[in-house]
Amino acid sequence: MEEKIMLTGIRSTGAPHLGNILGVIIPSVSIANQNTKHSSCIFIADLHSMIQIEKKSMTTIKNNTYQIAAAWLAFGLNIDNCLFYRQSDVSFVTELAWYFNCFYPYQRLALAHAFKKEIKKIDKEKISVGLFTYPILMAADILLYNAKLIPVGKDQLQHIEITRRIANYFNKKIGKKLFVLPHAFLQKNMFVIGTDGKKMSKSKKNCINIFSSDEILKKQIMSIRTDSKSIKEKKNPETDYIMSLYSLIAPVDKIEIMKKKYLKGGYGYYEAKIALYEYIIHKFSSEREKFFSFIKKKSLLDHILASGAKKANRIAYERLNFIRKHLKFNPII
Ligand code: TRP
Repeated sequence: MEEKIMLTGIRSTGAPHLGNILGVIIPSVSIANQNTKHSSCIFIADLHSMIQIEKKSMTTIKNNTYQIAAAWLAFGLNIDNCLFYRQSDVSFVTELAWYFNCFYPYQRLALAHAFKKEIKKIDKEKISVGLFTYPILMAADILLYNAKLIPVGKDQLQHIEITRRIANYFNKKIGKKLFVLPHAFLQKNMFVIGTDGKKMSKSKKNCINIFSSDEILKKQIMSIRTDSKSIKEKKNPETDYIMSLYSLIAPVDKIEIMKKKYLKGGYGYYEAKIALYEYIIHKFSSEREKFFSFIKKKSLLDHILASGAKKANRIAYERLNFIRKHLKFNPII
């Protein structure tokens, strides 16, 4: 049976938070390391990050790419087995995005939830065309490699749906199955809440960042919202946010012990937060150590990403030429 190509990207918005790690990085590394050579693509979506150019400089975006790269490597991604690259280093994708721009109806794209939500938040003058066509570039990321399995967070589901529609439009118009239809690969039960109980997200400033210093990490954990029950009182483990986060990472026996403490009373939220903090430090000690070591070696990271891009460019070149042929364009000179 032919292996399904897996592909995923994370925007270069800084070190990935616990939600990214549990929802995308850990499951993707596990698939990529098992897949046969070059059947997995993992990239840093720095072109997508450019939609924040109003707020962030290109230097910040570049520095953030190192943070993302270091995080993937810290979680043990085997770079010999997959294509690991910066999106901007494989620029064939922007050509494919243009084709999709021409094939996809404007009105449909205007219905995208993420876009509609975003434009409510920002000044009209600041809405870029890039923000609007964001899903088109994402479709190009995926379809350029004919990737089928796309590990993403729930917020990206509509983008995958748009990618499927684009693939369909294109295939129909050309009269040939040039693109396979991808599927989102969601981690079941992996709803990672942030410190305020809402979905963990950089924009909500409710993140737990395991790749920050001990001090900052502790501060983030201490800021988890709780009710105002005193130490003495019995607490509800089902509705508490500390417990919810602890349950995602701790082993069953430890979770059970904490649950009992909650139900019995005499156990304060402060203690629970300390337990969560200590468990995070313990669980991710080797990843944190590797991250802090990689982040100091920018030239090594540059080298790794450049050799990944070289391999990716070779595959992308072939694929794009094949697509160009069906569009009656000449091969790339
Ligand atoms: N939009 C994704 C995010 O913000 C990042 C991304 C860009 C991506 N291109 C992709 C994810 C292709 C999966 C596949 O999380």
